Amino acid sequence: MKKLAVIYHSAHGHTRHIATQVFEGAAGVPHTQVLLLQAEEVAKTPDMLLSFDGYILGSPTYLGGVSSQFKAFMDATGRLWRTQQLKGRLAAGFTVSSLPAGDKQSTLLSMFVFCMQHGMLWAGNPFLPEQHAGVPYDEAVNRLGSWSGLMAQAAHGAPADAFAPGDVKTARLFGQHVAQTLQRMSGSAQGMLREALA
Ligand SMILES: Cc1cc2nc3c(=O)[nH]c(=O)nc-3n(C[C@H](O)[C@H](O)[C@H](O)COP(=O)(O)O)c2cc1C
Repeated sequence: MKKLAVIYHSAHGHTRHIATQVFEGAAGVPHTQVLLLQAEEVAKTPDMLLSFDGYILGSPTYLGGVSSQFKAFMDATGRLWRTQQLKGRLAAGFTVSSLPAGDKQSTLLSMFVFCMQHGMLWAGNPFLPEQHAGVPYDEAVNRLGSWSGLMAQAAHGAPADAFAPGDVKTARLFGQHVAQTLQRMSGSAQGMLREALA
């Protein structure tokens, strides 16, 4: 059994809605135990991260970066960074914003750099935009065209679940992809990698 944590912050529910879709996609992969955790809670006891094989990180994009609550979670892992105890684990990231671009890439990059500083392995969002194959834009998987991580967009002031169906589909596929990638990393291979990186 592999353990995966979906760790997110959401002030107004949009990122929580996408985190739930990611969670459901991952939870459907056999031999995977998935937990949905709030970044604020993990920040209080960051050592809980040691019990997971992988992490999917989610934050709204606030002013072109992660929210302050999500950054507080990142900063709470400072002691784990010093001891490099998260080395060799799998990580991936997603973000939600109200504008079509909205500088979401910058948020994903911040998560990526965080994970690289911890020596983790990064999984992306490897889906071709389905609108190129004739699927209506709103229904298309990866309609926003993001490979480095998952992006989703809900209009300013819209209800927390007001995402295009394509974003919901992508979130589920993304969760499934990360969990499947984790399954492909055998326990012993992960252990060997951690030893090699130690
Ligand atoms: C302080 C603040 C800064 C924001 N900055 C951006 C931004 O840079 N780009 C963008 O597209 N949307 C921005 N937004 C909109 C949020 O990303 C959007 O409402 C998101 O869905 C909020 O997620 P949540 O409901 O999970 O908190 C901002 C919202 C707030 C409150």
